Amino acid sequence: MLAIQKIRDEHRSISAVLHGLKSLARDAQDPRVKPGFEALRAMIRYIDEYPEQMHHPKEDQYLFARLAARAPEAKALLDGLRAEHQQGARLVRELERALVFFEDAAPAGAREFLDAVNAYAEFHWKHMRAEETEVLPLAEKRLSAEDWRAIDAAFDTNADPIAGIHERDFEALFSRIVSLAPAPIGFGSRWGKAGA
Ligand SMILES: [Fe+2]
Ligand SMILES: [Fe+2]
Repeated sequence: MLAIQKIRDEHRSISAVLHGLKSLARDAQDPRVKPGFEALRAMIRYIDEYPEQMHHPKEDQYLFARLAARAPEAKALLDGLRAEHQQGARLVRELERALVFFEDAAPAGAREFLDAVNAYAEFHWKHMRAEETEVLPLAEKRLSAEDWRAIDAAFDTNADPIAGIHERDFEALFSRIVSLAPAPIGFGSRWGKAGA
C-alpha cells in the first residue's frame, strides 16, 4: 500500500523538522547566542504548510473518509483526529507569534518560544502516534483492495501534477532547512555567541 508508506514517510519528515526545531530552540536559551532566525522561520513554515497543504487533506478526504464508512466503530477516533488537524493549524499560529516576538526582542522571548515549540511538538507527536498505532493497522484490516486503489491514487503525487509540484516545493524547503540549520541538525554554520 503506497498510501501507508507515504503517510509514514511524511510523518518521518515532519518529525525530523520537529526534532531539529526543539534542539535549536533549546540552544537559543543561552542569552549570548545569536540564533539563526532564517532557519527557525523555514522550519516553522515547513511544519505549518506541509501538514496543512499536503498531508492532512489527503488523510481527511481519502483515508479517514473510506475508513469511517468501513469501520463505524472508529468514528470517535477519526473525528478526534480531524479536529486535531484544525487545532494544529491554530497551535502553529501561536508558534509563529512566539517566533516574531522572540526575533524582535531577543534574548527576551526565548523561553516562550521554547514552550510553544515543545507544546506543538508534543501535540503533533501524539497525533502521529495515534494514526500509526490505531488508524493504519485498522485501515489495513478493514479497507478493500478497491479502497486502497483509490487512496493510493490520491497519495501518488507522480500521478497528480499539482501535488507533484507542491511535493517538490517542500523537498526544496526541506533542503533549505538542512543547509541553514547548524550541525548536528544540518550543515549550516554554527550560531555565533556575543563576545566569542
Ligand atoms: Fe493527521
Ligand atoms: Fe498524519
